[in-house]
Amino acid sequence: MSRYRIAVVVGSLRRDSFNRRFAQALARLAPPGFSFEQVEIGDLPLYNQDDDDDPADQVKRLKAEITAADGLLFVTPEYNRSVPGVLKNALDHASRPYGKSVWKDKPAGVVGVSIGAIGTAVAQQHLRNSLAYLDVPTLGQPEVFLKADGLFDGDGDISQGSREFLQGWMDHFVAWVELHAGRARRESR
Ligand code: FNR
Repeated sequence: MSRYRIAVVVGSLRRDSFNRRFAQALARLAPPGFSFEQVEIGDLPLYNQDDDDDPADQVKRLKAEITAADGLLFVTPEYNRSVPGVLKNALDHASRPYGKSVWKDKPAGVVGVSIGAIGTAVAQQHLRNSLAYLDVPTLGQPEVFLKADGLFDGDGDISQGSREFLQGWMDHFVAWVELHAGRARRESR
């Protein structure tokens, strides 16, 4: 039985997405007691404030999955020096109607893989900006900006060269979730 459920939001819909593969490989570095479940964002309609009173079933599903999660893991590519539109669309959906955001107080980690030299750094900064506004406590360090080249071994796991660094990241993320989600649980008793 998992003690901490992590909702994974992947910012790419591409079939062979490096970021999705990375999300799966990263989850395998987590300790027992943590489970990682990717939330579907590819079937969400484009956000339209007119629909706030009657959201689509996919939006209700997204909000229910985020509500049920103890923590969040955002794994995103960078598109044109920012966050992919599908990811921003999901952020907007689950933040509305006004006052009914489900993101608030969910501890989060942000990581990303790119084929480019600066490895999603700008996209992550833009994402962190939205998360700060949404009251999402987001792990600051270590930062994870990765190039896809050489990241995975033949089994799809993290290759030896990045394993220790990413295990360190996971250890920090686990402590971050336990700190924030544990406090939320104590306060709700
Ligand atoms: C990109 N890519 C890209 N890479 C980067 O480092 N900075 C950028 O600003 C962009 N911009 C960009 C825009 C668009 C529309 C596409 C399709 C791609 C390249 C990107 O890193 C590469 O396609 C990754 O493989 C995307 O991640 P997934 O889909 O493999 O997870």
